[in-house]
Amino acid sequence: MTTLTAHFDVPLGPRSPRITRKAVLGVLAVWGYTDDEWTDDVTVVVSELVTNAVQHGAGSVVLALEAFDRQVIVSVADGSSVVPRRREPDGRGGRGLLLIEALTSRWTVEAHEGGKRVRAELRPYPHGADLAVPAGSARTRA
Ligand SMILES: Nc1ncnc2c1ncn2[C@@H]1O[C@H](COP(=O)(O)OP(=O)(O)OP(=O)(O)O)[C@@H](O)[C@H]1O
Ligand SMILES: [Mg+2]
Repeated sequence: MTTLTAHFDVPLGPRSPRITRKAVLGVLAVWGYTDDEWTDDVTVVVSELVTNAVQHGAGSVVLALEAFDRQVIVSVADGSSVVPRRREPDGRGGRGLLLIEALTSRWTVEAHEGGKRVRAELRPYPHGADLAVPAGSARTRA
């Protein structure tokens, strides 16, 4: 199985999180990642990452998906080099990164094209069967 990848230029505005969630869930479904509980977590992680990039970041926002068997990574890049940091939750927020931490195996930040990219490794997908292999990719012999 090869790594499956997708990139999505996020249209900026109040509907960014919702549009991106739809796009991500659509791609994951085509690849065979359809478990409801698992995709619920993906929905939250994508929403928080994109909301942060739009609210606190700068420039254009690009989401990338990488999937290899049960391992799926979602990353969101924006043009600001400011590194996201967890803060004490209060009446005005501070919960996004807490949620991301709770729902992923780990999350990291790396420099990317003058800004940064926040990478979230999702919890391993709970099923192995029925995952798509892209057309033209190498197949392992039975
Ligand atoms: N993409 C980003 N670019 C720059 N700073 C960020 C980014 N994402 C998060 N941050 C910083 O990290 C802080 C914590 O983010 P977090 O998502 O936990 O809370 P919040 O966005 O302030 O509130 P909430 O997500 O609960 O609405 C933010 O307040 C912001 O200062
Ligand atoms: Mg946030």
